[in-house]
Amino acid sequence: MPFASLLVDRIPIYPVSSIVAVMMDQEIVDRISSIVGDKGFSASKAYTYAYSFDASIYHGKADMVIQPRDVKQVSEIMCIAYEHRIPVTPRGSGTGLCGSAIPLKGGIVMDMSRMNHIERISVEDLLCVVQPGVVYEDLNRALEPYGFFFPPSPGSGEACQVGGMVALNASGMRAVKYGATRDYVLGLTFVKANGDIVHAGSGTLKDSSGYQLARLMVGSEGTLGIITEVILRITPRPKTSAMALLAFDELETAGEFVAALIAEPLIPSSLELMDNVSIDAVNKAMGNPLPDCMALCMVEVDGEPEMVEKELITVERVARKAGAQEVELSHDRKVMNSWTSSRKSVMTALSSLRPGYSSVSLADDMVLPISKIPVAVKAFQEISSRHGVILATYGHAADGNLHTKMLIDARDREQWLAAERTAREIFQTTIRLGGSVSGEHGVGISKVPDFMGERSTAISTMAEIKRAMDPYNILNPGKLFQWERESSLYGLRYPCEPR
Ligand code: LAC
Ligand code: ZN
Repeated sequence: MPFASLLVDRIPIYPVSSIVAVMMDQEIVDRISSIVGDKGFSASKAYTYAYSFDASIYHGKADMVIQPRDVKQVSEIMCIAYEHRIPVTPRGSGTGLCGSAIPLKGGIVMDMSRMNHIERISVEDLLCVVQPGVVYEDLNRALEPYGFFFPPSPGSGEACQVGGMVALNASGMRAVKYGATRDYVLGLTFVKANGDIVHAGSGTLKDSSGYQLARLMVGSEGTLGIITEVILRITPRPKTSAMALLAFDELETAGEFVAALIAEPLIPSSLELMDNVSIDAVNKAMGNPLPDCMALCMVEVDGEPEMVEKELITVERVARKAGAQEVELSHDRKVMNSWTSSRKSVMTALSSLRPGYSSVSLADDMVLPISKIPVAVKAFQEISSRHGVILATYGHAADGNLHTKMLIDARDREQWLAAERTAREIFQTTIRLGGSVSGEHGVGISKVPDFMGERSTAISTMAEIKRAMDPYNILNPGKLFQWERESSLYGLRYPCEPR
């Protein structure tokens, strides 16, 4: 029995439309490849293997990879997929951590990375129009000369694509002040399961014209349609910024500082929390750039220079009152960049902390009411130590979004089981505290049972929408709230033999 079935067995199945493994005859394959041409099509072993993974712990099985160039090609492909009930899993750069881009049922992986044009930047309209394959930081580099930016700042910003960001409602460090992707989507074009092209929303800042379909596509994880163009609101860049690095002797105290700062009120442009496991990992990997302490907060404030100064003083005052042991302030771009890049390297640094151990994403991006951060971090520590799992807790605490990573020997089945139990308890605790299983990474595969528990009263309405928009269940089948046990072609990317 593959390990993954341990997860599946406990997930209630929500019936959508069942899909049987597809046998594609050569004629269908030829029709598909002729639409995108040789450069946009591959069914080779190497390609289909590579596209069976994303950045999650899972892998699936792709039968063919296609890379469309425009909406017309996407529509033509979907017409064939609809006619022959072929599963289609859309994909950006594959940086997702929950398995949203894993092809669970085989079929087509539709890689959107060749649709990567910035079609229009219109600063007087406060918007830009982009294709889904535009990389987040490329867009910001293009907006910079205008003095504008698209703020959500996912950790994978140098690689992830706008289409994937919309599909997952991605965000990152700046969400506390500037919001998540959903707050910037004014409109988008998507292709339905049957190949119809839909323009949703508009190129205006306000829109009260009927159902907000563009919003519905945000967070849909490729299950409702293929996003082919996005109209994004943009916002002026702040004039200046400064940062404070605060060391605490307890994680809970750092959490209390976060809630106190927000209540002040002060909304920082980012506030990152790191526990001692994360600090230790970064210091070992990068040569001690951070204070050696039990917990630290990195606070950034931005805006007009006078306001930044005032806010920095407030941050220091609130931090000292909350019990910060050390306070370091900086206006130096180099210093601030080095702090930020230390924080950004937590995930990779964790993987090299213990030889033979991997950091696995199981409970990776819970979001809580901000006031519950102190009790949540303490509870997560208690849960992981009870299960004997090394846990790193860090994240964007000021918007309530916490990341945890578990360090396990991925060859050891017992450790996987302990990690899985830890994850389930972390999710249950989050939900009990009024939080949600995902703040920015999506549901994908890893959070399905917990998501279904959390959103129990909304699941049947979501399934009705899914059935209406994708009656044959060909769009990213097996994700979010549905998971058919029998025919899923997936497993863990790690070697793990049952004992
Ligand atoms: C981060 C990613 C994992 O914040 O969301 O590092
Ligand atoms: Zn994050």
